[in-house]
Amino acid sequence: MLFLSPTLLFLFALPLSVLSVSNSTNTDTNTCNPAHNGLATGTLQYNSDCNATTWCDNGICRSKGCRRDEFPLGYSTGEGRGNGKHINPPEKCSVDKFCPDEGSQCVPKTPVGQPCQFDRDDSCLGPDNFKELKDTSGRGLNVNGSICLNFVCQFANITAGSKCEIENTGYIAYGPSGEFVYVVSRDNCRVGLYCDTNSTICIQQKSVGGSCSADKECSSYNCLPTRVCGTSPSDPRHFPVWVYAIIGIGIFGGMIATLVLLFFVHGRQREDEREKRLQYWREQNAFRQNILQMHETARASIFSAPGSTSRRSALFGVTTEDSQIPMLQHAEDSGSYEVGSENEQLVMRTPYTHGNKI
Ligand SMILES: *[C@@H]1O[C@H](CO)[C@@H](O)[C@H](O)[C@H]1NC(C)=O
Ligand SMILES: *[C@@H]1O[C@H](CO)[C@@H](O)[C@H](O)[C@H]1NC(C)=O
Ligand SMILES: *[C@@H]1O[C@H](CO)[C@@H](O)[C@H](O)[C@H]1NC(C)=O
Ligand SMILES: *[C@@H]1O[C@H](CO)[C@@H](O)[C@H](O)[C@H]1NC(C)=O
Ligand SMILES: *[C@@H]1O[C@H](CO)[C@@H](O)[C@H](O)[C@H]1NC(C)=O
Repeated sequence: MLFLSPTLLFLFALPLSVLSVSNSTNTDTNTCNPAHNGLATGTLQYNSDCNATTWCDNGICRSKGCRRDEFPLGYSTGEGRGNGKHINPPEKCSVDKFCPDEGSQCVPKTPVGQPCQFDRDDSCLGPDNFKELKDTSGRGLNVNGSICLNFVCQFANITAGSKCEIENTGYIAYGPSGEFVYVVSRDNCRVGLYCDTNSTICIQQKSVGGSCSADKECSSYNCLPTRVCGTSPSDPRHFPVWVYAIIGIGIFGGMIATLVLLFFVHGRQREDEREKRLQYWREQNAFRQNILQMHETARASIFSAPGSTSRRSALFGVTTEDSQIPMLQHAEDSGSYEVGSENEQLVMRTPYTHGNKI
């Protein structure tokens, strides 16, 4: 978002030097040093010697009396998890109260002009015209029209051209190239205006295409490296109608192409199966003819030469030269199946084993 030069950052960081470094190395869990209460460097999160469920009350850690989060850190709401200790989280505060950073107890909201904790806009009383002033963009510009600016509750009610106040905060952020400082600039201008850094006067934010030097100068909060306001990175992208048309055609075209392909593939398979069945039928028919002819040959040979050896062979249907002659003849006639010893195998096969593939 907003990046400023290191020298500027140093200047902005100075007012934040009041924030003490966190030091949670305290071994005695019941005592704490109130001087260690403060915001941690870099993250600016509130920190003290006490653990997550206690706060430092004049050197002694006491149980917290209120919470800000729905599921606060350090409290186990489930049964039998972790060390098994079940601590009920403290209450959340009502609309006219707030829970301070340390979590001591719910405190009435602070009127305008009174001191507040860092970044606790929600601890300030709202103005009468809060509906007009409050930020509904979700960017956290103010809460209910009020803002904690430079540790003082103020209303975000300054109009264009009037004097305003700025609070620039540097946070330590981590990127692919290592640590960098991320600067958040806040002011008490009305929503839609920004506080100019040099003149400290509220100025109308620029729309997309306007020239800028910082994100806050653009209504989209996105100042491009070319120093022109770009569209907001969170804006949904809209595609022209032809993109939807092409995707639709692609989907339906793919479906229809698949159907056509399957139709032809299955057609070919059906053709193959029919050919196989036809061939099987021809073979069976040829065998039937052969067997009929064998019967006739056998009968003829029985009548012509009673008591000869060919009788036994004909009855069993195998391997004498006599019995093979009609089969070979028929094979040559039809031309659709193999001859010789192969025929004998085919004769011996049962129709079931031959036909179970069909
Ligand atoms: C943390 O506390 C210990 C003992 O109280 C002290 O010696 C040390 O200097 C403290 N560290 C910081 C960073 O304040
Ligand atoms: C925090 O410290 C208190 C005593 O000071 C102790 O009873 C409690 O279990 C501690 N909580 C955690 C989460 O360590
Ligand atoms: C906003 O501020 C007004 C005026 O102080 C107050 O009546 C109202 O409850 C506040 N609303 C919220 C959500 O804090
Ligand atoms: C903004 O609010 C403060 C505090 O109520 C008031 O003194 C000041 O006149 C208001 N400014 C504008 C421009 O409304
Ligand atoms: C602030 O003033 C300096 C010099 O006085 C100038 O270079 C810079 O562009 C100004 N910044 C803005 C935001 O006007």
